[in-house]
Amino acid sequence: MGELEPTILGVLISGTGTNLQAIIDASENGELPAKVGVVISSSSDAHGLIRAKVHDIPRFWVDRQAFGSNEEYDWEIVHKLKEFNVNLVVLAGYMRLVGEPILSAYPQAVINLHPSLLPSFPGAHGIPEALAAGVKVTGITIHFADQTYDTGPIILQRIVPVRQEDDEESLREKIRKTEHKFLPYAIKLWATGRLVVDGRRVKIL
Ligand code: GAR
Repeated sequence: MGELEPTILGVLISGTGTNLQAIIDASENGELPAKVGVVISSSSDAHGLIRAKVHDIPRFWVDRQAFGSNEEYDWEIVHKLKEFNVNLVVLAGYMRLVGEPILSAYPQAVINLHPSLLPSFPGAHGIPEALAAGVKVTGITIHFADQTYDTGPIILQRIVPVRQEDDEESLREKIRKTEHKFLPYAIKLWATGRLVVDGRRVKIL
């Protein structure tokens, strides 16, 4: 048996890219047996594109307006991912649903990050909705993506307590800190072959 090839990541973003940064840092520090091969943004002004540029990582804004359908848009993303030999797709603050072209090109190889303890507070407003509901704990979920938002098999979850004095900003900050620690860890589990999907349950070997 030869050496395990390093996993090549395609990171999909829409915004600031602090999680992308955490992945880049873990990769450059040698904590992660994976490297970011390409960054694709759904938004032209995502700060994550600048982060990729600073680290000399190929990066693209793929403009939905340039395509006739979501499916064509997703095919363009698949072509980019294949061009850069991506093995694992990471949705790190990507605010679009990934469609069938991406899911079937990457079976059990698209992972999503969500800022709540799913199945509570799915969707784009997980943090303010948790605060408004008055929950005492919320957290993060990292899961395999499937055809609908925030529903795929859960890889790992971590709790973040909600303090009385928390507002949206302070809670977001704590959630991000937790994400920065555990997203690289989840990628490492995938990259080292330690995740086994059994129906809706994911076993960690
Ligand atoms: C993260 O907190 C992630 O959980 C959330 O967007 C943020 C991106 O932050 N994702 C979702 O809400 C997906 N429904 P970042 O751009 O600084 O990494």
